[in-house]
Amino acid sequence: MFTRPPAALHYATAAAPPEGWIPADSIQPAASSPTPQRCGWKSWAPPSPASTSAAAEAEAAQTEAAAGNGDAGEEASGEGKRKDWYSKAIAYWQSVEASTEGVLGGYGCVNDADVKGSDAFLRPLLAERFGTDKRHLVALDCGSGIGRVTKNFLLKRFNEVDLVEPVSHFLEAARENLTRCMDQGEDSHKAANFYCVPLQEFTPEEGRYDVIWIQWCIGQLPDDDFISFFNRAKVGLKPDGFFVLKENIARNGFVLDKVDNSVTRSDPYFRELFKKCGLYILSVKDQKELPKELFAVKMYALVTSQPKIQNSGKRRRPKNAPRRI
Ligand SMILES: C[S@@+](CC[C@H](N)C(=O)[O-])C[C@H]1O[C@@H](n2cnc3c(N)ncnc32)[C@H](O)[C@@H]1O
Repeated sequence: MFTRPPAALHYATAAAPPEGWIPADSIQPAASSPTPQRCGWKSWAPPSPASTSAAAEAEAAQTEAAAGNGDAGEEASGEGKRKDWYSKAIAYWQSVEASTEGVLGGYGCVNDADVKGSDAFLRPLLAERFGTDKRHLVALDCGSGIGRVTKNFLLKRFNEVDLVEPVSHFLEAARENLTRCMDQGEDSHKAANFYCVPLQEFTPEEGRYDVIWIQWCIGQLPDDDFISFFNRAKVGLKPDGFFVLKENIARNGFVLDKVDNSVTRSDPYFRELFKKCGLYILSVKDQKELPKELFAVKMYALVTSQPKIQNSGKRRRPKNAPRRI
């Protein structure tokens, strides 16, 4: 995913989305002569001259992937294309080594900054939402890969963490890595459940999670599956629970990756999708200290009802409250 050659870079230049992609009117496609855009974890690279439309490219990628699979009727249908879209992605990840370098596309060096940034983002939110009382905290790590996020960060903050990941050799590696590092003390912290399922097919147990963490995997889902995933996942949250989405951010529109069949969306694109999911931004922050050649990365904390706190993280001042003049 992260080390593909420049020719695999594709730029959003069309208003019409591919199958399953339903950007709202307010989502602006990238300019028709795109400037070099950071793609995945890789260095800046010029756009592929052959790429004129992300929609056309995605359709072509899907059709290409469809060739020779299933029956003709299914191939021609949207569902056939969707199946091929996902199976190409899984085939890609199945070929990747189960290591930090593997899941981070050769950029294992970002692990420390990533973990530090995530912890700094989450800590105040946990205190604000759940107070300082002793509470048994449970998290879900979505698209967990080898359990890097769970091991380095979630297990330190949560008593139980469940992992959901469609690639079995990643999940097996996660199980091995995590069994070794579990704290079996009185106030134990443990990886509890390992689900080998893709997000588009996953429905969490009702009311189990304080936090559902989704990092560097939501680009695998087309917009309609993105929306239905979040709608199903909402039931998995405790009443004051929340989502954290940590993702690469395109400058505008979206950037298609034909190697692993994923897209990188822009911030306005994400915000439009959050609205469609009935989610509100509780807090948002940029990940700092990443190599310059990589995409920008944002962390969004998302809740299911309008937060009393503004997006900036500052409390809204009542209209009649005293103020400096
Ligand atoms: C870039 S890796 C990130 C792994 C992990 N979140 C991390 O930050 O270390 C992307 C992960 O998404 C997983 N993935 C691919 N398609 C998926 C899908 N449809 N649903 C959930 N996860 C998926 C891959 O198998 C891989 O583990």
